[in-house]
Amino acid sequence: APARGKTVRDYIRTIVDFPHEGILFRDVTTLFADPRGFRMAIDQLLHPYAGTRIDKVVGLEARGFILGGAVAHQLSCGFVPIRKKGKLPGQTISQAYTLEYGEAVVEVHDDAIQPGEKVLLVDDLLATGGTAEAGIKLIERLGGEIVGCAFVVDLPDLGGRKKLEAMGMEVHALCA
Ligand code: PRP
Ligand code: HPA
Repeated sequence: APARGKTVRDYIRTIVDFPHEGILFRDVTTLFADPRGFRMAIDQLLHPYAGTRIDKVVGLEARGFILGGAVAHQLSCGFVPIRKKGKLPGQTISQAYTLEYGEAVVEVHDDAIQPGEKVLLVDDLLATGGTAEAGIKLIERLGGEIVGCAFVVDLPDLGGRKKLEAMGMEVHALCA
């Protein structure tokens, strides 16, 4: 089918009752699987940062790796993963954050970002903002300067954007 007039949002599928009853899960795998959709998403994630110095793209596990890797390649800059606890092999720093039930921990290599480096944070989706907040704290603890936080989807009712903006972050999302 021709892609004319399609937006990023048109490529995202909603799965009912995943992972729990009552949840409408925004599934970006259908966006990633489409060559036009994927390129459109990467181009649009980068658009606000044309002319901005970016030294490192940081991606949040797991879907932030797919987007962040492509964004970093397009910028010819480095990519840094923030991973769930216990996955990174080198020396790490850790940050706990709150989930719907309980706590989780994310980590970054302590030598992955140098003080003063300009960082773009990338993930597929902003919900409560807990994951992104933990990522921002890790980047700032290493002395990175965050130029923006870029998401494909923002679920504004869950308050993530407000949380990140209250931390002084510039937040961009391609659709709600
Ligand atoms: C999802 C999503 C974001 C985060 C958003 O990842 O990809 O990273 O949740 O939620 P929040 O704004 O409420 O923190 P998930 O934790 O499911 O990890 P995965 O990508 O490794 O499956
Ligand atoms: N889709 C993907 N990841 C998520 C969602 C969603 O709807 N909600 C919280 N994390």
